[in-house]
Amino acid sequence: MSHATTQKGIFAATVLANRQIGECFWRMDLEFTGDGALAFAEFRPGQFLQIDVSRLGLPPEDRIPPHLRDACRRNVILRRPFSFADVTAEPGRTTAELLYCVLGPASLRLTTLAAGDSASIIGPLGNGFSMPANKRLALLVAGGMGLPPIRCLAKHLPVDCPEVETIAFVGAKSIDALPFEGDLGEIPAEVGPFIPAFAKLGVSVAVATDDGSAGYWGLVTDRLTRWLDEQKGWSPQGTILYACGPEPMLAAVARIAGQRGIDCQVSMERRMACGVGLCQSCAVECRPAAPLRVGMEGSQETVYKLCCQDGPVFDAKTVVFGENK
Ligand SMILES: Cc1cc2nc3c(=O)[nH]c(=O)nc-3n(C[C@H](O)[C@H](O)[C@H](O)COP(=O)(O)OP(=O)(O)OC[C@H]3O[C@@H](n4cnc5c(N)ncnc54)[C@H](O)[C@@H]3O)c2cc1C
Ligand code: FES
Repeated sequence: MSHATTQKGIFAATVLANRQIGECFWRMDLEFTGDGALAFAEFRPGQFLQIDVSRLGLPPEDRIPPHLRDACRRNVILRRPFSFADVTAEPGRTTAELLYCVLGPASLRLTTLAAGDSASIIGPLGNGFSMPANKRLALLVAGGMGLPPIRCLAKHLPVDCPEVETIAFVGAKSIDALPFEGDLGEIPAEVGPFIPAFAKLGVSVAVATDDGSAGYWGLVTDRLTRWLDEQKGWSPQGTILYACGPEPMLAAVARIAGQRGIDCQVSMERRMACGVGLCQSCAVECRPAAPLRVGMEGSQETVYKLCCQDGPVFDAKTVVFGENK
């Protein structure tokens, strides 16, 4: 996976808006000017930023979810990683949209940021997705919190590679967990322009929910398999899969890709302390692209790569997922 060429740094961003969307997600819009605007204008879908929340307080008691009341009180010293859901570059000004879920002390503190506040950001970080070469079809698979970088990719693929048809498979617990504004109405199980945020990009979507409240009732990977089985005259060599979501979902997508001979890039998540390759806290076990030593062809030896620097996007063939250990 090639590395992005952008110049990363520490930048101050201004919060433009920060509000809850649906049951799970919050959306924060950030504005960068000066050097930050230049650095983030050069970003690549799949890259991420690290945000400092160490000076943020907690929201009022009635806005703290009961299950976080004890855990949220601990100080948050380390920055936290979040993907870009969208980036828009204009002369002298770059805006970035984050979509984040409240899981613990840091993400809860993020909800206290309001329009006009300043935030310290390190980025853009990581390698990002590689654009497809010689492909006709890109299948994007997102599960739960993995939606933001996939949404970002869905915006950039049709612009950078207009010859590639893009279809997104979006999995969520329920329709209320999808971070889309406005009434989505009844979303059928088919592939179609059912999510306006994707439709306006020319990207059709298949939705799968755990509770059947929208789209296909079941796992997004089952929906993907069913769709692949239905295709006639379709070329695996001309297709690429991109995925971000919980690790079991990524393992399933990697398996589907491997069985069918489809190239596949997965965006991995790890707990990250530094985000810039110093602390080694974000190791991802991988198979080496070439034997580590002469005469070791066919060996099961593995190497550890850093999710923050070598990733977060990896060739799915190289990742040793937990279930394969
Ligand atoms: C490259 C990268 C990109 C990311 N992009 C996004 C994004 O766009 N939107 C978003 O909402 N989150 C994203 N995350 C996850 C986000 O960084 C964590 O949710 C956040 O750090 C949690 O911090 P916290 O202090 O609120 O909770 P913590 O106290 O750190 O964690 C609270 C609970 O959530 C669990 N948890 C923490 N991280 C994850 C995770 N990645 N997946 C599942 N469970 C987790 C912990 O095990 C713990 O049980 C990304 C992570 C990485 C590595
Ligand atoms: S987070 Fe420190 S090395 Fe990756």
